[in-house]
Amino acid sequence: MTQEWWKNAVIYQIYPKSFLDTNGDGVGDLNGIDRKLDYLKKLGIDALWISPVYLSPQIDNGYDIADYRKIDPMFGSNTDMKKLISDAHNHGIKVIMDLVANHTSDQSLWFKESQKSRDNYFSDFYIWKDPQKDGSEPNNWGSNFGGSAWTYCEERQQYYLHYYGKQQPDLNWENPKVRQAIYDVMRYWKAHGVDGWRMDVITSISKNQDFPNNDNPHGLKYVVGNQNNGPRMHEFIHEMNQEVLEPFHMMSVGEAPDSKSKDTRSLVDPTRKELNMVFTFEHMHVDRKPGSVNGRWAIQPANIVELKRILFDWQKNLEGHGWNALYFENHDRARTPSRWGNDKEYRYESATAFATVLHGLKGTPFVYQGEEIGMTNPEFNLDDYEDIELTTNYKKLVENEKTISSKDFLKAARKISRDNARTPMQWNDKLNAGFTSGKPWFKLNPNYPSVNVDKDLSSSKSVFKYYQKLIRLRHTNDILEFGDAKLLMPDDKDIFAYTRQYKNQK
Ligand code: GLC
Ligand code: CA
Repeated sequence: MTQEWWKNAVIYQIYPKSFLDTNGDGVGDLNGIDRKLDYLKKLGIDALWISPVYLSPQIDNGYDIADYRKIDPMFGSNTDMKKLISDAHNHGIKVIMDLVANHTSDQSLWFKESQKSRDNYFSDFYIWKDPQKDGSEPNNWGSNFGGSAWTYCEERQQYYLHYYGKQQPDLNWENPKVRQAIYDVMRYWKAHGVDGWRMDVITSISKNQDFPNNDNPHGLKYVVGNQNNGPRMHEFIHEMNQEVLEPFHMMSVGEAPDSKSKDTRSLVDPTRKELNMVFTFEHMHVDRKPGSVNGRWAIQPANIVELKRILFDWQKNLEGHGWNALYFENHDRARTPSRWGNDKEYRYESATAFATVLHGLKGTPFVYQGEEIGMTNPEFNLDDYEDIELTTNYKKLVENEKTISSKDFLKAARKISRDNARTPMQWNDKLNAGFTSGKPWFKLNPNYPSVNVDKDLSSSKSVFKYYQKLIRLRHTNDILEFGDAKLLMPDDKDIFAYTRQYKNQK
C-alpha cells in the first residue's frame, strides 16, 4: 500500500455530538459512529475525520480540550475509541483525529498549574504578559469570539492570550516542553491505531514575539487580525513532521485560515516535510462583503465567478508543488444548497451540482456528515442557536458596537452561522430523525420528515447515490487523480465548466 493513500481517497467528517446517540442521553457517541460503519462503507469513503472527542467542558463543542489523552465520558471511553478504530480498519476505513494544539481548555491540568505561579513546570506553557502601566491589556489584539484576546488572572497578576474564548488559552509553542507534550499526545493516539490528523488552526501556533498592536482602521478597542503564519510556523510544523508524522506515517491536513495558494506551497510541498494538505478559507469568503467591520456577518450573494477563480487559482498554484484539500462543508460552515444554491425547489440539483464541481477537482475531497443526503440550513430563531461564536459576536456587534441590526444579524446567521451544520444527522422520519431516543442536545432541522437517509436512499433523486458514484469515480478514474485541471468560461456567471486531462484522456 502506498503511503500516499489519501491521494485517491474521499474523507468523511463526523461531528460526533450530532451523528448518532446510542444511549439515549441526547448526545452522539463513539458507539454511534461504530454502528454506522456499514453505512459509511456503503457510501464508499476511505477515511473518517472525527471532530474532537476528548475530555472537554464543551464551551466550543470539544475544541476546548481538558485532557488530550482521555475520551470524554459523554462520547464513551478510550477502549471504545480503540474498538472504533479497529472496527473501522476492518471495514477498510482509516481514522483521523482532530489535533487542537493551538490552545487547550482553561480546565486542563496544564493551565490550572500554569495559572498558579510564574515559576512552576507549567508556568510557560501559555502566553502570559504583564499589564500595561494603566492596568490594561498588553496590546489591542481581539478574540475571534468577541472582546479582547487577553484575560487577566488575579493569581499570577498577568494576562494570558486566547485567540478564541477566554476558556481557550493559547499554548506557548516557543516552549520546547509544550511542543514535546503535543508530540507525545500524537504518539499516544498512534498507539491506539489512529492514521492521521486534522490540525485545528495550526497556522496560528507561532506568535510574533514583539506582540505589536494590530492596525486599527475602524478605531475599535480590540482588533482581530494577524493570527496566522507567524515567524516560526514552518519551523514548528517541520519539527512535528520529523518527530511524529513522518516516522509514524501519519497523514496530515491543517486548517489554514489566512493561507493563499502561492504561500501554501511552502506548507504542503512534500520536499519540505511539513503537511500533506491544508484547508484554505479563501473560497468560502465569496459571499462576504469585503472590508466590513462586521466581518463574516456582512453577507452578500455568492460571487460564483470569484469562486471559480479562487478554486482554480489553488489548482494551478499547487500543481506540481503540493496537494489540495477540497471542501465546501464542515462543522464551521453552512449547508451548501442553502448557502449558495436553492434549497427549496432545487435542493437535489444544488447539492449534486456543487458536489460535481468539488469532486471533479484535483485533490482530496472531504464530505461532511449530512452533505451526502443534501441536508440544509435550519431556519432557526436567535434563541435556538447554541454556538459560542454566534452568541459572542451577537453581543459584540449588535449589542455593544451596534454596527449591525439584530434583524440583519439573524439573516446572516441563517445563511452562514456554524450551527447550520451542527443540527443532528437525519437518519429517518421517526422520533428525532432516528438520532436519539432521548432529548437531543441541539434542535433538529424541522425538515427531517422529508430530508433523511432512509427517504433519500429510496428516492429516484438520491443525493447519496450521486455521492456514491462520485466516490467510486475517484477510486477508479486516473484522470480524476492525476489529470490537469483547466477552467473554461471563467467569466460566465451561470456555468461552471472545466476539463481534466491526463495523458491523452480528457
Ligand atoms: C477551528 C475549529 C472551530 C473552533 C476553532 C477554535 O476553526 O474548526 O470549530 O471553534 O478552531 O478551536
Ligand atoms: Ca450518547
